[in-house]
Amino acid sequence: MNAVEIEQIHKSFPGHWGRGGVYAVKGVSLQIPQGGVYGLIGPNGSGKSTIMKALVGLLSPDAGYCRVFGQPATAAANRREIGFLPENPYFYKFLTGAETIRFYGKLCGLSGRALQERTTELLELVGLTEAAHRRVGGYSKGMLQRIGLAQALVQQPRLLVLDEPTAGVDPIGSRTIRDIILELKQRGMTVFLCSHLLEQVQEICDRVGILYQGCLIAEGSMDELTRDTRRNEVILRNPSPELLAELQRVAGDAWESCSPARNSLEKVFLDGIRARLEAEGRS
Ligand SMILES: Nc1ncnc2c1ncn2[C@@H]1O[C@H](COP(=O)(O)OP(=O)(O)OP(=O)(O)O)[C@@H](O)[C@H]1O
Ligand SMILES: [Mg+2]
Repeated sequence: MNAVEIEQIHKSFPGHWGRGGVYAVKGVSLQIPQGGVYGLIGPNGSGKSTIMKALVGLLSPDAGYCRVFGQPATAAANRREIGFLPENPYFYKFLTGAETIRFYGKLCGLSGRALQERTTELLELVGLTEAAHRRVGGYSKGMLQRIGLAQALVQQPRLLVLDEPTAGVDPIGSRTIRDIILELKQRGMTVFLCSHLLEQVQEICDRVGILYQGCLIAEGSMDELTRDTRRNEVILRNPSPELLAELQRVAGDAWESCSPARNSLEKVFLDGIRARLEAEGRS
């Protein structure tokens, strides 16, 4: 059974007096197997958040349906199975991180020792144990996204829906969030996320959908989508100029180019910061 089934959903938002209406989602279908991590990418306004809201039951599509673990997304029992981190999460500024999680835990029916244990465990998971007693109003953007993630996990959902979990977060914070998502995947969580950080989507997702003006214009496993079947890469360690010249001669017309391998900017950034932290004895 698929964890998520979105079948031919359409959604439009009417304008005023017949003007300014938006046809936001135009017949989108996608499935996520249990334990899968699915990434939805697309330009601003392409309908990503609208699809996520339909999936978590916050808005109803004009046509089509969303099923979560075989049941309608809006069924009350099913709501408990879904954790949601919205696009712009709002938290009560005067509560501390721990109080925030306790508050959401209570809303989900937890109390007493179970609530206490769950709060401690979640703050630990998202790396906010030390900041647990600071007010959320003073949290950085990265900390807010992490408390949002903890909030989404409070009722132990089986599906996590994350609308831009790393929006506005620096590369180190994004990596932390990425690692948390990978850890949750290891534990069997199904994840549906959208993001503008394509490199991260590539690192964590098994499947991807590309949305453009409300339509899926490409969809498939990461491997299928990114593989270029007409070209090959050969990576050589410390090749001599003679070896390269020889290879080019043998390859003839099939030779396309040869240049030093490159690291991603993310790797250069993270290695640089890590070296500084180590030098300062704070690794
Ligand atoms: N409640 C609403 N009322 C009217 N129009 C809306 C509403 N919600 C979304 N829209 C419109 O629907 C379209 C899709 O919006 P959506 O928020 O789903 O895009 P998105 O892909 O999440 O964009 P972004 O990357 O900027 O978050 C946009 O044109 C948007 O203006
Ligand atoms: Mg959005």
